[in-house]
Amino acid sequence: MSNISNKERESIHGLWSSRLTFILAVTGSAIGLGNIWKFPYVAGANGGGAFVLVYLICILVIGFPIMVSEILIGRKGRRNPITSMHLLGKEETGSQYWKVVGFIGLFAGFLILSYYSVIAGWTLHYFILSLTGGFTELDTDQANLLFSELTSSISTQAIFHTLFMVITIMIIARGIKNGLEKAVKFMMPALLFIMVILLIYSITQGDFARGVDFLLKPDFSKITAASILAAMGQAFFSLSLGMGCIVMYGAYLPKNESIVKTSLTIIFCDTLIALLAGLVIFPIVFDNNLAPTDGPGLIFLTLPLAFSDITGGMLFGSLFFILLGFAAITSAISLLEPSVAWMIETQNIKRSTSAIIIGSVIWLLGFLTILSFNDLSDFTFWKGTLFDNFDYLASNILLPISGLLFTIFASWFMTKSSSRSELSDVSPTTYVIWRFLARVVAPIGVIIIFLNAINIL
Ligand code: PHE
Repeated sequence: MSNISNKERESIHGLWSSRLTFILAVTGSAIGLGNIWKFPYVAGANGGGAFVLVYLICILVIGFPIMVSEILIGRKGRRNPITSMHLLGKEETGSQYWKVVGFIGLFAGFLILSYYSVIAGWTLHYFILSLTGGFTELDTDQANLLFSELTSSISTQAIFHTLFMVITIMIIARGIKNGLEKAVKFMMPALLFIMVILLIYSITQGDFARGVDFLLKPDFSKITAASILAAMGQAFFSLSLGMGCIVMYGAYLPKNESIVKTSLTIIFCDTLIALLAGLVIFPIVFDNNLAPTDGPGLIFLTLPLAFSDITGGMLFGSLFFILLGFAAITSAISLLEPSVAWMIETQNIKRSTSAIIIGSVIWLLGFLTILSFNDLSDFTFWKGTLFDNFDYLASNILLPISGLLFTIFASWFMTKSSSRSELSDVSPTTYVIWRFLARVVAPIGVIIIFLNAINIL
């Protein structure tokens, strides 16, 4: 593992060409279905405002220090997450077992991408529906019908899941070049623009007051161990933490760029988009007498109603779902890249072959998620359907565990001079704050939330 030549290392690391593209890549990874599809329904299912408050605290005191730790490890290791942890673990502590942390992350990425791709497929299907006038004069029942037709059809879901995986594999197989960087540069402002248009719709046409109330007014009686765990899981998921993709992308960051400032920018953008999504969705939910607790179908049930109502709804609807598809692709790439990079580096297999092999395994696994919504919907155990279990295991268990270990490694096991040299641009106070959050606050937070949720405390 340690005899990888420089040339090979560069062929993997030479993907992003500037600081801006690094920020765009990580923001592209962070902003995705997690913000627009998952945040509103998890918030809805966990009591709204109270959940949002806990979520924001988790982002700041847990998400921020862990993101800094992961970028720092990546930039110091300059390899895929497993190899980086292997090398740094040996250098800093003499133990090679730290690479297990990388493995946990990569395994979580596997699971997440398998269902992420199915949901991203839904957005592609909705893009086509919107483009072909499927949302004209829609009422709540018809919106429900459109969605249940999709989830009950194995073949429709399979087609779009396959399409999405093929696009992801193709991009990874070619390496991420200018095309993608340009797409991301266009996509971020465009997504924001569409969100603002939708927000105006929600403010003027939806039950905005009730939506804001639900999203921003905390009802503390709704805060339970389970909802705190859900908020933390969502913070990890939304910031792409704990699975090595931030470590991987950190490996491409030039030495002179500020890790702390970059992390804050990314966290700000990610949170802004999630809150905007909530502000768009809930007023429409209440206005149409839908339940905020509607689960994974929430945006697919609500947004078509809005699009059927507004002038130019066909255009905005199509734009929205295709942009959501783009946002999902930039996240999916970051989910696939670490395992592919690992395979290239350690198994000496070509990039395209690695992308196809790993992508196909994930694609196959995706069928279990598709079946969770129809033939296997009655096959429930532990947290629900297979899809529910994949999501719970990855977001609420694996991501926090490996994120925790990354941050413990960076703050407790790396020497102070190692970490300080990566964070040399910030003031001593900022460094001390990061180290305190990373050493004490984030680990204690994660551990307490965790033990509480599994009923040990
Ligand atoms: N952060 C992405 C989103 O919000 C999902 C993701 C999770 C991407 C973990 C990479 C790693 O949609």
